[in-house]
Amino acid sequence: MDITTTYLGFKLSNPIIVGSCGYTYSVKDIKTLVDSGASAIVLKSIFEEEIIWEMDSNLAQMQRPMTVYPEIYDFYDLETIEDSVTKYLNLISDVKKEVSVPIIASVNCVSSHEWVPFAQRIENAGADALELNIFIMPSDLNKTSQENEQTYFEIINSVLAKVKIPVAVKLSYYFSNLASMIKKISETGVKGIVLFNRFFEPDFDLESLTVVPTNVLSSPSDLGKSLRWIAIMSERVNCDLCASTGVHDGKAVIKQILAGAKAVQIASILYRKGPKVISDMLDEIKNWMSEKEFNTLDEFRGRLSQSRSLNPAVYERAQFMRYFSEKF
Ligand SMILES: Cc1cc2nc3c(=O)[nH]c(=O)nc-3n(C[C@H](O)[C@H](O)[C@H](O)COP(=O)(O)O)c2cc1C
Repeated sequence: MDITTTYLGFKLSNPIIVGSCGYTYSVKDIKTLVDSGASAIVLKSIFEEEIIWEMDSNLAQMQRPMTVYPEIYDFYDLETIEDSVTKYLNLISDVKKEVSVPIIASVNCVSSHEWVPFAQRIENAGADALELNIFIMPSDLNKTSQENEQTYFEIINSVLAKVKIPVAVKLSYYFSNLASMIKKISETGVKGIVLFNRFFEPDFDLESLTVVPTNVLSSPSDLGKSLRWIAIMSERVNCDLCASTGVHDGKAVIKQILAGAKAVQIASILYRKGPKVISDMLDEIKNWMSEKEFNTLDEFRGRLSQSRSLNPAVYERAQFMRYFSEKF
């Protein structure tokens, strides 16, 4: 049975990639993940602000003004931030010596300014690919959706101009026309789009009357959003689609491949069950394929995508109307 796939131009032994998270920030943990079956690793993101901080520190030594965002003081421990860029580049080169699967670096970014040349240092450190984790919360009342979206293209185009390694973009679903945005991004030259990133949500602590983060880890019921959009967009984009959020077992991987994904990324389930879950998921995929008499992933990839569906409306509003009127 062949469960290999391709993603960003790499041949992967299977479709399970470990997404960017705390498990992908040390050589030791990454080795364990690879030994458990992970076919590629997305490193924990380095933040644009960390990169700019390092650049500004160097500039400061040359008596130049600091341009680092003031918010950085809320987010970072300044004693550790100065080391983080060096640490990140070392992590890339060290991990490349230890494992043979593709290593995808990740930058969390919101602008196309100072940090972009750093993408070259990531490439020079030996990263096989770069994932841009771009999220601009569309909450600025003075900005149009076009202005927000334009920033994504500025970031992508400036990074693509700097590096030769494949670039992927990890997105949220906060766009006024998500399908059009995904399609346009796929036409920029990126090799992959990851749907979707997941964010901590705000909750209210009724004792202390403060805002607190909640739902740090996903649950299997979170799969639906990315399943729907992978199914809608697969075979309509010019790059690979990778599913992220709510993939907790082998069945979820199978569903995302039926929707049209080239690969999936997992994070939360590692915190719940540990790296061994990857080999369990791979067994589940193989058992299902054997039951259904599939020999390769391509035999069923995209079979339930919207473009191949006999009833494309199943992914859209009509299905919900029928469901609600019959059941409730
Ligand atoms: C503890 C934790 C840390 C994460 N850190 C990052 C990060 O640095 N960069 C990033 O792009 N995504 C990060 N993520 C998001 C995951 O990569 C993933 O997209 C998201 O958790 C949804 O997948 P899941 O349902 O398998 O958890 C993090 C997730 C968790 C749970």
